[in-house]
Amino acid sequence: MPAPHLQIIVGSTRPGRRGHAVGTWFHDLAVRHEGFGIEFVDLAEVGLPLLDEPRPPQRGQYDHDHTRRWSETVRAADAYVFVVPEYNHSYNAATKNALDFLAKEWAGKPVAFVAYGGVSGGARAVTALIPVVSALKMVPLSHSVHIPSIRTAMTAGGTFESSPGLDADASAMLDELRRLTVTLSALRLGDPVG
Ligand SMILES: Cc1cc2nc3c(=O)[nH]c(=O)nc-3n(C[C@H](O)[C@H](O)[C@H](O)COP(=O)(O)O)c2cc1C
Repeated sequence: MPAPHLQIIVGSTRPGRRGHAVGTWFHDLAVRHEGFGIEFVDLAEVGLPLLDEPRPPQRGQYDHDHTRRWSETVRAADAYVFVVPEYNHSYNAATKNALDFLAKEWAGKPVAFVAYGGVSGGARAVTALIPVVSALKMVPLSHSVHIPSIRTAMTAGGTFESSPGLDADASAMLDELRRLTVTLSALRLGDPVG
């Protein structure tokens, strides 16, 4: 089997966001891991408006080019890692909006999270995401990467400073995600859901 296609989706979109630096760290680590073919997807660049499709996404009938482009992007992946901030004890709205736009494109695929925030390390963001991705028939990995005190983990140059422990944890998560991806890809080939 060729290397499964993993999309690393950076969820935060605000100017000055730390999420891009966290996503860049995780992207570089995932490339070194060599378990996947990697695509970096930045929701700030995808630039979706607030959901503006007249029909429910389950039908896969889209009026807008931005939705068709987003559908094509998401459909191409075998697995996803969302890089998400904690906002107000949940995850950020741009991530929810990007999820809500589509349905079958996500279904039957594994998803994992790299979450960050204050003392909680984005734990409440991931807790809030689990029922949402489950409703979309994705399969969430129980292993998430959590980064507490994100403000102090940034360098003066705006890059994210990891640690050997965090790198090892992220790499272990990718090992698990790879195993689940191979299993679910085989199931999807036998019984396509999308
Ligand atoms: C609107 C907003 C709400 C936030 N709420 C929380 C929160 O509930 N818990 C937390 O740990 N951090 C919270 N923070 C701090 C963020 O986790 C931190 O600023 C992080 O850098 C935000 O991600 P971003 O820089 O990629 O946008 C909040 C930040 C923002 C902008």
